[in-house]
Amino acid sequence: MDLSTMPSDLARRLAGIGADFRQLTLEYEFALREVETKMHILQDEFLHLHDYNPIEHVSTRLKTLDSLVGKANRRGLPMDLGVWRREILDIAGTRVTCSFRRDAYRVFDLFTERQDVEVVSVKDYIAHPKANGYSSLHATVRVPVYLSTGVILIPVEVQFRTIAMDFWASLDHKIKYKYDGEVPADVVDELKEAAQAADDLDRRMERLHHRVHGQPGSPGP
Ligand code: GTP
Ligand code: MG
Repeated sequence: MDLSTMPSDLARRLAGIGADFRQLTLEYEFALREVETKMHILQDEFLHLHDYNPIEHVSTRLKTLDSLVGKANRRGLPMDLGVWRREILDIAGTRVTCSFRRDAYRVFDLFTERQDVEVVSVKDYIAHPKANGYSSLHATVRVPVYLSTGVILIPVEVQFRTIAMDFWASLDHKIKYKYDGEVPADVVDELKEAAQAADDLDRRMERLHHRVHGQPGSPGP
């Protein structure tokens, strides 16, 4: 971020944020590590119990200061870390990519049932995809982070999706970036069709998997 090109009052406020932002980054990174560990424990236990791995991969990301400033501006929030901590609940994000739709729900259930995971809100874009075709299951949760000064609760946005949903979302993201948000109507339409094709593929693969292997935890087909 280049403070020299900013309006001077904004630059001054951000310059004062430095040490506090480093503290925030550390705390949110700890929260991401906690969530990642919980996911890997779920994965290993599931594998042990059912001889089946419902998770393809887990990734994490922390919003940069640039992107936080952008979001704060869009939402009319002041340049104040205390306000951001309260109002911006996706500073820390985890993405859990599963093989099948059913696995996304199953991992979501196992994760959100944990006593050390407090669910703040859930958005089910798998059952109710967005108008553009975006599909994923989102949970905003709070997880405890243990510091030498005590325990704090940190919000993390967790997205559960299938490989096909992830494939679609990643292309959608690249296209939005390329067109700077002004995506031509025919590309929008084509993306919507691609989302439908991804959904069809998900359902088809799941049926096939079920036919061959049965449901994990059940005696088989
Ligand atoms: P944000 O201000 O973006 O956080 O929106 P929101 O608070 O209404 O949350 P929402 O559940 O709509 O989206 C949160 C996150 O889901 C985004 O940051 C993206 O990672 C993902 N997402 C939501 N909609 C789309 C979409 O249309 N395309 C892609 N590629 N990702 C999306
Ligand atoms: Mg978001």
